[in-house]
Amino acid sequence: MAIALIHSRAQCGVQAPPVQVEVHLSGGLPGMSIVGLPEAAVRESKDRVRAALMCARFEMPQRRITVNLAPADLPKDGARFDLPIALGILIASGQVPAGAVAELEFLGELALNGALRAVHGALTAAIAAGRAGRAVVLPEANASEAGLAGSVQVLPARSLLEVCAHLRGEGRIEAYRPRPASAPPAAGPDLADVVGQPKARRALEIAAAGGHHLLLVGPPGSGKTLLASCLPGLLPALDEQEALEAAAVRSLAQQRFDPSAWRTPAFRRPHHTASGIALVGGGSPPRPGEISLAHHGVLFLDELPEWDRRVLEVLREPLESGSITISRAAQQAEFPARFQLVAAMNPCPCGWAGDPSGRCRCTAEQIARYLARISGPLLDRIDLIVEVPRLSAAELHAGGTAGEDSAAVAARVHGARSRQAGRGGLNARLDHAALAGAVALCARGQALLDRAIDRLQLSTRVARRLLRVARTIADLAGAEAVQPEHLAEALSLRRWTVPG
Ligand SMILES: Nc1ncnc2c1ncn2[C@@H]1O[C@H](COP(=O)(O)OP(=O)(O)O)[C@@H](O)[C@H]1O
Ligand SMILES: [Mg+2]
Repeated sequence: MAIALIHSRAQCGVQAPPVQVEVHLSGGLPGMSIVGLPEAAVRESKDRVRAALMCARFEMPQRRITVNLAPADLPKDGARFDLPIALGILIASGQVPAGAVAELEFLGELALNGALRAVHGALTAAIAAGRAGRAVVLPEANASEAGLAGSVQVLPARSLLEVCAHLRGEGRIEAYRPRPASAPPAAGPDLADVVGQPKARRALEIAAAGGHHLLLVGPPGSGKTLLASCLPGLLPALDEQEALEAAAVRSLAQQRFDPSAWRTPAFRRPHHTASGIALVGGGSPPRPGEISLAHHGVLFLDELPEWDRRVLEVLREPLESGSITISRAAQQAEFPARFQLVAAMNPCPCGWAGDPSGRCRCTAEQIARYLARISGPLLDRIDLIVEVPRLSAAELHAGGTAGEDSAAVAARVHGARSRQAGRGGLNARLDHAALAGAVALCARGQALLDRAIDRLQLSTRVARRLLRVARTIADLAGAEAVQPEHLAEALSLRRWTVPG
């Protein structure tokens, strides 16, 4: 009996567990059976492998072929095993020498003509292969993505024939060499285009500096969406570890992957009609949702009260833990979801509550019902809640005297971020112990905090968020210690009554 063993990888959440593809040839009636994949995937894989072998002028062995993918409890996504299965058949039947196959991992879908098609999750598989000390052979279309892994040799191939030539030692596949990174793409509108709104601008700067969650409340057309869209232009590039994590999630999603922008934090902006699965992830096999695609970046939820309340409630867990666990009958997957939440909303159904013109016609009950769509626990997790009022005619006409541009603000954000890096991380993510170390209030500051806790009945969670924001304000000011005025500003940048 002839046997071949090929290394490959499955995909489970952001993990890429190893899979052994074992091919046995034995006597008996000719035919092929694949064990370890669901029925439909097996049928399709058989057809592709058979056609690809014929097209490349190889012989389909006239023997009993048994393919075993171990371990058996694999994700249903089977196309990535086409290449290892085809190679296993060729090696077991002696048409291709085993060569250095033990030091390699293989991944790739075969087209009927033997060309290799891109697979999902190539980056996670490449990282895992590197850890296992093996090089990875994969479709050329996945090379730049897999190349991000850095510490692994990536061998990109266009077809089954190229892979076979490599194993025969006839035509070596060149290892992928990453090209120098191109300039990051333009990052949306510039703060120089925003007229007025000093308070919202300040809140945006603080949110960018410390990674805090932000809610903008105001009438239609006051610039909420515009302001939120300016945030990407204020954020620094991701460091290598963060970029790798974010890219790994993106490479799992069914969408085009642009490796040139891999250091740019994501800015995800799902529409409020998006389903729960689209927002938090799910499906079979589980795929990451918007909150995971926003990992280390921004999740912008515009028109917050229009979102399904149950969908919003699911955000509470990842907002605290930075990850989401998706449980399906067959399997459980955990995806990272450490995003910065920016949300925008009108203060009432007509949008004009609180406007000095008095044009709001909503009843108190209508307003209450509208606001109740956003739960208290969700609001508790938002650090900055600011009003974005309608601009007066005078302010609009003074448009020429627009504020600073994004580059000037981004420079301050950068300074505040380096101070945080010296302490060990973004202020928004300081845990309780680190926060206590980073914020040592003077007596006056402590008294202010105590008064606020009593009068505004702040929960411990909200009080801590307040201190984190105050720490960021001090960092922006270049101050060593958090002063009472920093705390006071943090208090002023969070509305304490329900908006409206
Ligand atoms: N403060 C502002 N400065 C400059 N343009 C503004 C401002 N507020 C609104 N606009 C412009 O008005 C339009 C509506 O703004 P938008 O941000 O969509 O409002 P909202 O989201 O609050 O309803 C956009 O074209 C925007 O560019
Ligand atoms: Mg808007």
